[in-house]
Order: sequence, then C-alpha cells, then structure tokens
Amino acid sequence: HEEAEGPEGGFAHEGLFAKWDYAQLQRGYQVYKEVCSACHGLKQVAFRNLEEIGYTEGQVKAEAAAWQVPGIDGETGEATLVDGTPTDYFPSPYANDIAARAANNNAIPPDLSLITKSRHGGADYVYALLTGYREQPAALVEEFPGTKTAAGQYYNPVFHSLNISMAPPLTSEGQVTFGPGNPDPTIDQMAEDVSAFLTWTAEPTLVKRRQTGWAFLAFLLFATLLAYFSKKQVWSRVK
Ligand code: HEM
Repeated sequence: HEEAEGPEGGFAHEGLFAKWDYAQLQRGYQVYKEVCSACHGLKQVAFRNLEEIGYTEGQVKAEAAAWQVPGIDGETGEATLVDGTPTDYFPSPYANDIAARAANNNAIPPDLSLITKSRHGGADYVYALLTGYREQPAALVEEFPGTKTAAGQYYNPVFHSLNISMAPPLTSEGQVTFGPGNPDPTIDQMAEDVSAFLTWTAEPTLVKRRQTGWAFLAFLLFATLLAYFSKKQVWSRVK
C-alpha cells in the first residue's frame, strides 16, 4: 500500500515551534460531530475536554446537551438515553460490536480517540486515508486478481489491504458549514481539520510537552553560563 502523505505545509502541531491551531481544532470537532460520529466513537474524550480547545463553559454545556448518552430514566429506573452533561464522555454510535458489524459490511469502525497514535503515520495517515479514495486501476486487478474491490468495499491505496469497508466519508465541498472567518470547507480542508482534531484527542498534552522542552533548554543554557562564569570568578586570582 502507499505511504501516507500529510497535507501541504503540514500541521501547526508539527515541527520546532509546534502549536495548536484552535480554530482548526474546532472545525475538526465539527467534522467529527457531523460526519464521523455516525459510525465512530470517541470514548476517551469527555465533553468538558472541549474547553481545552477554546470552547467556553457555556458552549461546552450546550454542546454536551446536544448529544444523547447512556443514562437512567428518573421515573422507571431503566436504562435509556439522556442529554449529555460536560462530565460525560462521547457516546459510541453502536450498542455493541455485533450491531457495528451489521451496519458496516462486517467491519467495526474503530474508536477514534487514539487513532493517530495507533496507526503508523498518525495525523498524516488519517488525512491521506480520507483523501485517498480512487478508482481501482484495471492494471492492478489484472496483475493481482486478489486485490479486486469486493462489494461493500472501496479502493483506497493508503489502507493496508487496499480495500476498506468505509465508504468515502468526505465526498463534497460544503458537507460541513464552517463559521465566518474560516477557510472554505473543501474535502481537503475538512480532512486536514479532522486529522488535527484527532491528534489533539490522542495527545492533548503534545504542545505543552514541547513548550516544557524549550523551558528546559533555556534553563540548561542559564545553568551552563552560571557554571562557566562562577568558574572564572573562583579561579580569577590563579595565574
Ligand atoms: C475505519 C476515520 C467516517 C465507517 C476508519 C479508520 C479511520 C477512520 C482512521 C481506520 C482505518 C484503519 O484501520 O487504518 C474516519 C473519519 C471519518 C469517518 C475521520 C469522518 C470524516 C466514517 C463513517 C462511517 C465509517 C461516516 C460509516 C458510514 C468505518 C468503518 C471502518 C472505518 C466500517 C473499518 C474499515 C475496515 O476495517 O475495513 N475510519 N471515518 N467511517 N470507518 Fe471511518
């Protein structure tokens, strides 16, 4: 299968001066919510975590309340779905693996909380996968008949087995509407944004860790200079 290539120019959270692009993370959340959450859970993330990417407490409350999570009916005491609260975690779309398989050509859509850590290539892989759907080359099938895309599968050369049981989730520009001041929701943009968002869900402390690294280097430089000048001072009378 093909090596995954990331978006042009890379992600804001990569490189020497890594930072989160909060507007992008919020767009990515929107893509997850409006597209991916139909099939994929995000069970390691709580609604209150959204405050870390720039949502206010009030927005988080409203956001949580718009989701249905497993709960208890106050009157009958039976299990039911209730409005989410900030301390709840994102619900899984299927009751269990059997239901998940039944709806997805016998494949289970994996929980996406840690997907950028569990797949080689991380955010670049997710981006490449989402933008990698193609017509299957006839020459490939001719040479390797076993690779022919079966019913219910889609050819995607980025996927390890070349054929994936996920229909292309991002298919048209404007599938998600971004607020004013944001770039146009092209397929490419939506793919990049949701990949950045999924990096944050998997590694919320990534940027802080980098910053701690810089603080540590600054301290090291300071300690070195201190040692150097004290040595000079202490030995200044010895010729
Ligand atoms: C698999 C991402 C939307 C169904 C996957 C994988 C990722 C992913 C990263 C794992 C691929 C691997 O195993 O390496 C996303 C994103 C979505 C999205 C970011 C939104 C933009 C959907 C939707 C559905 C779906 C809407 C259902 C209609 C599946 C299924 C698999 C899968 C069934 C397992 C495929 C297989 O193992 O062959 N998805 N997905 N996904 N997804 Fe999605």
